[in-house]
Amino acid sequence: MPALVLLGAQWGDEGKGKATDLLGGSVDYVVRYQGGNNAGHTVVVGDQKYALHLLPSGILSPGCTPVIGNGVVVDPSVLLSELSGLNERGVDTSKLLISGNAHIITPYNVTVDKVTERFLGKRKIGTTGRGIGPTYSDKINRVGIRVQDLYDESILTQKVEAALDIKNQVLTKLYNRRAIAVGQVVEELLGYAAQIEQYVADTVLVLNQALDEDKVVLFEGGQGTLLDIDHGTYPFVTSSNPTAGGACTGAGVGPTKISRVIGILKAYTTRVGAGPFPTELFDEDGEALRRIGGERGVTTGRDRRCGWFDAVIARYATRVNGLTDFFLTKLDVLTGWEQIPVCVAYEIDGKRVEELPYSQSDFHHAKPVYENLPGWSEDITKAKSFSDLPKNAQSYVKALEEMSGAPISAIGVGPGRDETIEINSFI
Ligand code: IMP
Repeated sequence: MPALVLLGAQWGDEGKGKATDLLGGSVDYVVRYQGGNNAGHTVVVGDQKYALHLLPSGILSPGCTPVIGNGVVVDPSVLLSELSGLNERGVDTSKLLISGNAHIITPYNVTVDKVTERFLGKRKIGTTGRGIGPTYSDKINRVGIRVQDLYDESILTQKVEAALDIKNQVLTKLYNRRAIAVGQVVEELLGYAAQIEQYVADTVLVLNQALDEDKVVLFEGGQGTLLDIDHGTYPFVTSSNPTAGGACTGAGVGPTKISRVIGILKAYTTRVGAGPFPTELFDEDGEALRRIGGERGVTTGRDRRCGWFDAVIARYATRVNGLTDFFLTKLDVLTGWEQIPVCVAYEIDGKRVEELPYSQSDFHHAKPVYENLPGWSEDITKAKSFSDLPKNAQSYVKALEEMSGAPISAIGVGPGRDETIEINSFI
C-alpha cells in the first residue's frame, strides 16, 4: 500500500516538480488533490524544460497515470491548452484522468477574483488572479459547477443561473461592472464538454482499487503548508488544503492508506504575494538569492520575495503534516556565501519564541533570531552522494535536519533530473 504524499513545506515553489518527476518513473499514479492552475511546476527533462500549472507532473512519465482529483479546481481552457502544448512537444497525455467531482473554474470566477483584489486595494491578498478563491467559495456555498455538470445541459444551465444570480447583483451594484449572461457561460462550458470527456472518470474508485492492488500512488500537493487555508498565514493563503490531510479529502483516500509524507523544503525561503515573512531580505543577499535561484513565479511571472531558511516554519510543517521525510531543494543556490544565516527562533515583543505563534498579530511582529552557519565555495552540482558534498554543506544539511524534525532523504543540487542526491529511498 505505498501511498506517498509530496507537499510544499514552506510558501510554495520549493521545487516540487523536480521531486515528483524524480519519483515519477517508479510510481503508477500521480495525483493532484487541491488547487488549480495557480500552481507552477517546472520540470526539466534532459534539455527540455516544462512549466506545468494544472496537470500533475506525472504526465511526463510514460508509465504513469496522471490524475486530477476531486479537490482540484479546473479551468477547462487552461487544461486544454496545457494538453495541446504537451502534445505538440510529443508528450502522450491520453492516460490523464479527471474526477467528475472536481469543480470548474468558470469565466465569472476569474472575473470575481480580479475585481475583488482590485476592490481590496492595499488589503489585497496578491492572488494569482486565476479564479481559485471564488471557485472554492462557490463549492462551499454549494453553487459550484462540477466537471460532471458539463454533460447535462439542463442541470448546467440551472446551476450557472443559481451561481450568477447573486454574483450579477454584486458585479453590477457594488463593483460597477457589466452583468454576465447565463447563456454565454453555458455555451462556453458546453464547448469544452466533448474535448474533456475522454478523461473524466470515477477517480476515487480508480485510486482505491489501485491501492488495493499495491500500486504506487503519489499525491502531489500544490502551493505549500504556509499557504494552507487552515494552517497557513491566513488570510494571506490560498483557498484549499495543500497540507497532508488535503490528500485524503481531495482524492477520496482514507488516512490509513497514506504511508509516507514528504515535505519539499527549499534551502532558503521564498514567498509570492502578500503576507508576513519573517526572514525576508530587502538587501543584496535577497537580490542574489532571487537572481541565482531564478526566483520568478512560473505561473504569474512575478518576482518572488526571498529570505534565509526559517527552521521555525520547517518544524511547523513537520508537525501539521506528520512529515516522515524532507526533500531539500536548491542547495546549490547557497554556494558562495561565507556565512549562511539560519532562523532558529523568533523574537516577539522581546521574548524568544521557538514555535510558530498561532496568533496572526504575533507572527506579523516576529523578528528572526539567526545563527550563522559556515558556507562553502565549491561547485556542488556534480555531487552524487552526501559524502561528495563539501564539509560545510554537509553540516548545513545536518543542522537543518536537526532543527526541522524529520530526516532529509534527498537533496537537490541543480535543476536537472539527475542533479539530486538520494540518501534514503522514498519507495
Ligand atoms: P490564489 O491561490 O491565486 O488564490 O492566491 C493566494 C495566495 O497564494 C497568493 O499569495 C499567491 O501568490 C499564493 N500562491 C498561489 N499559488 C502559488 C504557488 O504555486 N506558489 C506560490 N504561491 C502561490
